[in-house]
Amino acid sequence: MTDLKPRGASLRYSHAVLALAVLHQLIGSEWMSKPWRFKDASAWQIQLYELHEWTGLAASLLLVLLIWSLWRRYGADTLARFLPWLSGVGRSALAGELRGLLGGLPRLQAPDASQTRVLAAAVEGLGVLTLLFFACTGVAMWLLEDQLELMHEIGSIHEWGALPLKLYLAGHAGMALVHEWRGEGLLRRMFRGA
Ligand code: HEM
Ligand code: HEM
Repeated sequence: MTDLKPRGASLRYSHAVLALAVLHQLIGSEWMSKPWRFKDASAWQIQLYELHEWTGLAASLLLVLLIWSLWRRYGADTLARFLPWLSGVGRSALAGELRGLLGGLPRLQAPDASQTRVLAAAVEGLGVLTLLFFACTGVAMWLLEDQLELMHEIGSIHEWGALPLKLYLAGHAGMALVHEWRGEGLLRRMFRGA
């Protein structure tokens, strides 16, 4: 994969605001009430739910903007870059990087970002798919708000995304911080377009 020019504003801002919105969704959902439990909930918990609903709808729009911005940046390579496991070439590039990663383990040596580009993009692709899942099930619940039983059923499907999302954020944001700490400047390039 070649290095491209600095990221444009739509990619940087949609990514940054989406990251904040998703953190908000994860934290707030621990305390919010669900519509099918409003009768026993406090006003504060109901407000938290309403915030979850509107932030979720805004996050879904931001996700569309992020995908459109990625498409503008990577063009016809977008799918191959973010879903490399779909093709034989992508799978062998992934396997090569994973072998390098495992090879460095006994020496406790983490590779630098340029050695795990395919893997990083594959993880980012899975993160985008996880958010698409939240967005589709979330919007479906919003549209079906007056059919509580059906909404409740979709809610239990919506919840399946929680573990993948937590794993994604730990891996993606965690590695971004590790690379930043090692002075590779990924955060600066992603958030400030430097
Ligand atoms: C991209 C947008 C969204 C994200 C990232 C997101 C994230 C989350 C997370 C992490 C949970 C907690 C799951 C758990 O702890 O097991 C949750 C629960 C929930 N969310 Fe969302 N959400 C989004 C959009 C929406 C929208 C638009 C609605 C509108 C109705 C919504 C309604 C709910 C409800 C009702 C629950 C409780 C589900 C249950 O307990 O059965 N979400 N969401
Ligand atoms: C759920 C929320 C998030 C999603 C869906 C997401 C998605 C993405 C995607 C698709 C890219 C690739 C952009 C490109 O190739 O131009 C990316 C890059 C990046 N993200 Fe995130 N991200 C999220 C949260 C975060 C958070 C919280 C951080 C901060 C710690 C972060 C830090 C970065 C960095 C530093 C890069 C650049 C990586 C590189 O240059 O190789 N992301 N993210």
